[in-house]
Amino acid sequence: IDPHLDLEAEINRLRRDKNAIILAHYYQEGEIQDLADFVGDSLDLSRKAAATDADMIVFCGVRFMAEVAKILSPEKTVVIPDADAGCSLEDSCQADAFKIWREAHPDHISLTYINCSAEVKALSDVIVTSSSAEYIINNLPKDQPILFAPDRHLGAYLQRKTGRDMVLWPGTCIVHEQFSAREITRLKSQHPGALVAAHPECPESIIEVSDHVGSTSQILSFVHSAPSNEFIVATEQHIIHQMQKDSPDKTFYAAPGSDGGCSCSSCPYMGLNTLEKMYLALHNEAPAIVMSEDLRLRALKPLERMLELAP
Ligand code: 13P
Ligand code: SF4
Repeated sequence: IDPHLDLEAEINRLRRDKNAIILAHYYQEGEIQDLADFVGDSLDLSRKAAATDADMIVFCGVRFMAEVAKILSPEKTVVIPDADAGCSLEDSCQADAFKIWREAHPDHISLTYINCSAEVKALSDVIVTSSSAEYIINNLPKDQPILFAPDRHLGAYLQRKTGRDMVLWPGTCIVHEQFSAREITRLKSQHPGALVAAHPECPESIIEVSDHVGSTSQILSFVHSAPSNEFIVATEQHIIHQMQKDSPDKTFYAAPGSDGGCSCSSCPYMGLNTLEKMYLALHNEAPAIVMSEDLRLRALKPLERMLELAP
């Protein structure tokens, strides 16, 4: 890329010329979030991808999110700034092992977190996100046993909240599993008025020291209206960009890991996307998400169920 190129102006020109929409997750760099047409949590982004009339979607998030956009909007070109932007939860759950697990539990309904591959979605009954899972579970028949993959911390949280019979896949998010309850408590003692907001991908020890637990959008709403001026944020730290924009007078601390630092709260996969790669994806219309129509249709079914059942 020509170092003199005005990236922002070029992105604006290209998105207009190509009738493209830029969708971004809250875990993206602030400059990407600021250029996006829409920023949201996984459920909001899925809904937006399904409803847009753009010809092209530039998905600034991780690959499984861009795949969801392609599954819901197959006629559109869906590009992602960096095709290597994966997810530790997706990696933990390979389709062949998942299939064997499902077959070993024939009486269970398979609820799968959206953080998984299209192949695993295609083998699931219903997809859920952190903002919709509890509601969807509470609307299932009371005696229906549940298989939940791939996040064992989110699964255990839902089990505690709903009291349901659930078998959990042993996956974890490499970001949320690194926060330290001890260091969060120490930080809180230095800022006694601070409230702790956590994502349900965190282990139980973090949930126990939290004042609010929710999806990224839910955490943002909490921070917006909670009666405090200080918050400890136990989720990927780039969400603080939105918090600071929304509430410039409040103070936010990224939750620390066991070394007391907060380097663990950056997702290395989300961090692969940059403004330069976003520009190139828009310019080159690549890397694009491609998938067979057979796989797309099988993955579409449980995603449509999510969109029907979610609040
Ligand atoms: P939500 O934005 O749906 O809360 O998901 C968080 C996440 O882990 C995305 O990878
Ligand atoms: Fe996956 Fe965790 Fe990164 Fe989200 S934050 S994309 S769950 S590794």
